[in-house]
Amino acid sequence: MASDGAAEPKHAKDGFSSRKVFIFAAIGSAVGLGNIWRFPYVAYEGGAGAFLIPYLVALLFAGIPLLYFLYSIGHRNRGSAPLSLRRFSKGAEWIGWWMVLVAVVIGVYYAAIIAWAIKYTFLSFNQGWGNDPGTYLNVDFLQVAKDPGPTMDFVPQVLLLMVVVWAVTIGVLAMGIQNGIGRTAVIFIPILVVAFGLLVIYSLTLDGAGAGLDAFFTPDWGALKDSSVWISAVGQIFFSLSIGFGIMITYASYVQPKTDMTGSGAVVAFSNSGFELLCGIGVFATLGFIAQSTGQQIGEVVASGIGLAFVAFPTIINEAPGGAFIGVLFFASLVLAGLTSLISIIEVIIGAVRDKVGISRLAATFIVGLPMAIVSILMFSTTGGLYLLDTMDAFVNSFGIVGASIVVMLALSWVFRKLPVMQQHMNTHGTIKLLLWWKALVAVIIPVALAYMLYQELRDKIAEPYAGYPDSLINVFGWGMAAALPIIAILLSFLPWRGDTKLDDPGDLYAREDALVDGGEQA
Ligand code: PFF
Repeated sequence: MASDGAAEPKHAKDGFSSRKVFIFAAIGSAVGLGNIWRFPYVAYEGGAGAFLIPYLVALLFAGIPLLYFLYSIGHRNRGSAPLSLRRFSKGAEWIGWWMVLVAVVIGVYYAAIIAWAIKYTFLSFNQGWGNDPGTYLNVDFLQVAKDPGPTMDFVPQVLLLMVVVWAVTIGVLAMGIQNGIGRTAVIFIPILVVAFGLLVIYSLTLDGAGAGLDAFFTPDWGALKDSSVWISAVGQIFFSLSIGFGIMITYASYVQPKTDMTGSGAVVAFSNSGFELLCGIGVFATLGFIAQSTGQQIGEVVASGIGLAFVAFPTIINEAPGGAFIGVLFFASLVLAGLTSLISIIEVIIGAVRDKVGISRLAATFIVGLPMAIVSILMFSTTGGLYLLDTMDAFVNSFGIVGASIVVMLALSWVFRKLPVMQQHMNTHGTIKLLLWWKALVAVIIPVALAYMLYQELRDKIAEPYAGYPDSLINVFGWGMAAALPIIAILLSFLPWRGDTKLDDPGDLYAREDALVDGGEQA
């Protein structure tokens, strides 16, 4: 009896046109800097070949179950993170805002890294970083201030590149979900796979590649006894799959109602991990080359994050035959992978503002995009930018992403008791069925494991100031920011919704619609 109009999902007209586009967009979000520069290092530190065991366990028993949990929230309740949670209960709305605020923090600094990668793509052509890439990065390019802390000294070149990154991101988002986000992912992801594939093939031909791969794959079984290795496997899977930022709730709400969600999630998760493994192979083969040509051990040349991309890689490019080729492929890959992830995280905020204030997509894009661009540029194109970036990254990843994930699982499982309807929704919308084990994982096992992980993290960060930075920096941009997010989130949840937003649980409506489609077995 549900009238056609009422049963239409809110985003029906402005959503992903097909399952394929959704899968590409979700992979676009998942495949990012985390795959290219974080995974190889985390895996190496965590026992190399042996790391694959905790990694696979974390993927199958934490990543994918939580991915399904988040899909079910967005796909069933068809709204941004705060609206979807509000439709479960008024008391759950703030968790959605918490995720939105985490997205704000990550978005503002992620843009800076993409801007640097654009610069390095061009520098690759003639090794414009000279003979000492470390000095070039810190002194010539970023002009990093001597003392850690915020400054008001702008670096014009970085500023300009960040303007470009934000203009592209806002432009894509303004074009809409299908034409902007969807189409960008469908174009960028295949290019990225080809570019990175070429890089990997080339890297395997370098002298020393074999030694690099040996280092990457030779298992250190002893590492499996170390709980921190398991923790870092879970952390890697979460970051890499983009779960806990609200992205997966938001994207799932744009998927047509009759879509195989569990099957799609498996495709996304395995594609992401497959690409991640490819990154590990490419990066270690290349590191093997540099180790051999400088006569060092692999252990001495591995680096993570900024050091790997902007110091180790340029060093390799200086030495390797055809270095410019590797350089352009590597940095262009970072730019493509980074942009699709940045787009996804800003969409979390746009979707939320659009739902809450009841404005058009275009208006929301600018209302969110412009202030974020300004804050991002003000903070990260200064000479103190690198310190702020490092501090915020370290705190928001654990206390924001992991914190919000624990709270959303416990709240929906135990306080609002929504697991049965979520499970039922996924089972009528998926080829992979969620059984009792799924409930046990999301209600008990994953939150407990994550809480333990967070506790360890908290202990370490209290014991020793992060990276030896001054207290003032850590207190404001680390602890202060991490603690402020849930508080601001609670305040935001008290603001009224626009007049005609439906805040009720839409569950029955869709269940009925599906029942009609599936031949009534549900009714
Ligand atoms: N999955 C992304 C990555 O691996 O880099 C995580 C991410 C980070 C997504 C930052 C979006 C974002 F803005």
